[in-house]
Amino acid sequence: MRDLMISEAEIHGCNTDSEGKHTVNNEYDNKKFFEEYAKMPRSIDGLLAAGEWHQLRPLFPELSGKCVLDLGCGYGWHCKFSAERGAAHVLGIDVSRKMIEEAKRRNADDKIEYRVCGMEVYEYPENTWDCVISNLALHYIENIGDIFRNVYQTLKPGGVFLFNIEHPVFTAGVGQDWIYDREGKPQYWPVDNYFMPGERHTRFLGCDVVKQHHTLTQILMGLLEHGFVIDAVEEAKPPEEMLGIPGMKDELRRPMMLLVRASVNR
Ligand SMILES: C[S@@+](CC[C@H](N)C(=O)[O-])C[C@H]1O[C@@H](n2cnc3c(N)ncnc32)[C@H](O)[C@@H]1O
Repeated sequence: MRDLMISEAEIHGCNTDSEGKHTVNNEYDNKKFFEEYAKMPRSIDGLLAAGEWHQLRPLFPELSGKCVLDLGCGYGWHCKFSAERGAAHVLGIDVSRKMIEEAKRRNADDKIEYRVCGMEVYEYPENTWDCVISNLALHYIENIGDIFRNVYQTLKPGGVFLFNIEHPVFTAGVGQDWIYDREGKPQYWPVDNYFMPGERHTRFLGCDVVKQHHTLTQILMGLLEHGFVIDAVEEAKPPEEMLGIPGMKDELRRPMMLLVRASVNR
């Protein structure tokens, strides 16, 4: 149940980005959700605690002297990684004021600018960025086709769009949870309404969270239709060394994340 001390405005209100535009608020500005998110291993230990990092990291292009945009940057781990890899300028945007405050506190760097801004309302200046990253944020976006079009326009020729989105098998999961047996062990992962994209109401970290389901065709063909060349597609599997973590072996039973690297060939 939601903490009743959290005001309605805090849960359903609007943020204003640096340009005064209103952006949709999300669960990450809900105090209770934010505190629970802070307890996750990836929030405490960063990229090395993220099950997908061993697959995402090799997909990064050369970043030395490059300009990098991170959509839904959260605590800014990938911004910091990009700066450490030699990026000349990094912009991390996130719709959550709390996440941006945390990014500035944990992952500040002279090369990084953090901005409260929804990715739906960012201006996407033409031919500006060498690399656009988005890790685990695109499944909050209803119309990812619009994002693909904007990212294509804002990338320079040869630029790379690298993202990790919740896998369609995961977002089409019924309540995004297993069916359990009598002992409480996961029996199987139910998938339903796969070809009906759109809102999915889920429980995550003890809170109601709205996500958006997109089919595999929408994601991959969406990229191709907007002009991208697809360089790599991967489905996240935890590395050997993480399989001892409780529940991690179950991550081999269905895909949770889809990693894609696409580039601009103009
Ligand atoms: C699971 S977190 C991932 C954060 C970060 N990319 C990482 O991998 O550590 C999802 C992030 O997406 C942000 N987000 C959700 N909807 C967004 C939107 N419309 N525009 C920008 N950021 C958004 C959330 O505020 C949150 O910080």
